[in-house]
Amino acid sequence: MAHRRLDPGPLVIASHNPGKVREIGALLGPFGVEPVSAGELGLPEPEETEATFIGNAELKARAAAIASGKPALADDSGLSVDALDGAPGIYSARWGGEAKDFDLAMRKVHERMTAADSDSLAAHFTCALSLAWPDGHAETFEGKVFGTIVWPPRGSRGFGYDPIFQRDGDDISFAEMDPDEKHAISHRAAAFDQLVRACLKR
Ligand code: IMP
Repeated sequence: MAHRRLDPGPLVIASHNPGKVREIGALLGPFGVEPVSAGELGLPEPEETEATFIGNAELKARAAAIASGKPALADDSGLSVDALDGAPGIYSARWGGEAKDFDLAMRKVHERMTAADSDSLAAHFTCALSLAWPDGHAETFEGKVFGTIVWPPRGSRGFGYDPIFQRDGDDISFAEMDPDEKHAISHRAAAFDQLVRACLKR
């Protein structure tokens, strides 16, 4: 199926996180895209009510595109642990609580895995990226990176669940990895590659 292509010009980044807006802007700059943040435009943050990463990314991208009248890009990501039937999954950010305390969230993963029936340490990160237009059309891509949960947490680089995730074939956690190296092989990079090939490369 043919993908809809994004013309050069303004693109709303449907995130209120300035770090994310900067990072996405830098990745898309070479394609003539002018990033504008949803925060700057005063757009409301919709509630993430869908049951999948793709569903929530599309919901956020469509809401921003329709409210602003411009194309909009949103992402949704998280950690899924096999022994926990995919938890925390779409609730990854919420496991950190109001204080976004990921030491707490990582302990919760460890405690639940210790109590689980399965001995599996397998886990993966997922990133869904959705590009939507004001007419409601959306192009959505999903990237994954597979690995295992390590305990205790290791390393201080990165964010979120990075200290307890080790990619298959590596012997260091994501939080021990050089950030540039992580960005090149992450679930987010995999989703971006697909988006660029389908909607941006001339
Ligand atoms: P979102 O901003 O709603 O997509 O929240 C995603 C949550 O998933 C983040 O708060 C992190 O806890 C977790 N997460 C997503 N990607 C990564 C990653 O690359 N490393 C560590 N944690 C991640």
